[in-house]
Amino acid sequence: MKPRHFLTLQDLSKHEFLHLIHRGIEFKKNRHNHQQPLQHMTLAMIFEKSSTRTRVSFEAGMTQLGGHAIFLSSKDTQLGRGEPVEDSARVISSMVDGVMIRTHSHDMLTRFASYASVPVINALTDSYHPCQLLADMQTYVEYRSEIKGKTVTWVGDGNNMCHSYINAAKILDFNLRITCPKGYEPDPSIVSNAGDRIEIVRDPQQACVDADLVTTDVWASMGQEQEQHERVNAFKDYQVTASVMANAKQDALFMHCLPAHRGEEVAADVIDGHQSVVWDQAENRLHAQKALLEFLFAEKT
Ligand code: CP
Ligand code: NVA
Repeated sequence: MKPRHFLTLQDLSKHEFLHLIHRGIEFKKNRHNHQQPLQHMTLAMIFEKSSTRTRVSFEAGMTQLGGHAIFLSSKDTQLGRGEPVEDSARVISSMVDGVMIRTHSHDMLTRFASYASVPVINALTDSYHPCQLLADMQTYVEYRSEIKGKTVTWVGDGNNMCHSYINAAKILDFNLRITCPKGYEPDPSIVSNAGDRIEIVRDPQQACVDADLVTTDVWASMGQEQEQHERVNAFKDYQVTASVMANAKQDALFMHCLPAHRGEEVAADVIDGHQSVVWDQAENRLHAQKALLEFLFAEKT
């Protein structure tokens, strides 16, 4: 039987997505009362890009669920020396119960998954970051109970996070306004797949009017470091400032997947201000991914 992978949010039904949100909330409430459904299970974590939150949350999550995680940097494995992805997938997955991958190309992830005999989790590619959306949606539900029908404004680059917000809007049925400079739009095929819930609004002030949630991300993602200078110029009018936030609903929340660059995509008084929920959002990576690990591994045994 083919293993169940988590490569994009589209691998989940709406019911499953909502189940993960609610299990994440339960895991958070019962954080000191650990059930250990993943005893003797091992997660291999392949990182071809840097990470703080993703590494710590998956590793701590596996430990708390009774299992174990192995950190594999591409610098130290044969993958990094050119061993084929297909061969690596067959070998690594023959020894562990699941594989988490953070890499550049989404194609590498899907090739790995198609040769793996155990579930593969996308921990960020250039195209998507679905694990972050599990945490973001859990955070919204914790603060405001339901996301369905709400308006979310994405400010900035049409990047991997933006693509995962588009997928989440389709599955959970919220409206997503994307405000970005010309030339930095999300992939049109991902936008069109989500139907009329997605709107591109050039003016960031306008895009935030009556928003329930305003969210942003860095202007230059990992792998785009050489474009930093030109991106700072292109995005200079797309900073989430207090004046931009003032257009949103009074009780609007602010989110950022982190790491953040204060003074670039977000002003310090916004990310450190009263509407910001970024610390809960970051912590929820742990709880949301424990729900995901349980869903993919424990329920299949
Ligand atoms: N948000 C996020 O994925 O953070 P890291 O890059 O630190 O894992
Ligand atoms: N868009 C960012 C997200 C980091 C968590 C990046 O890919 O670098």
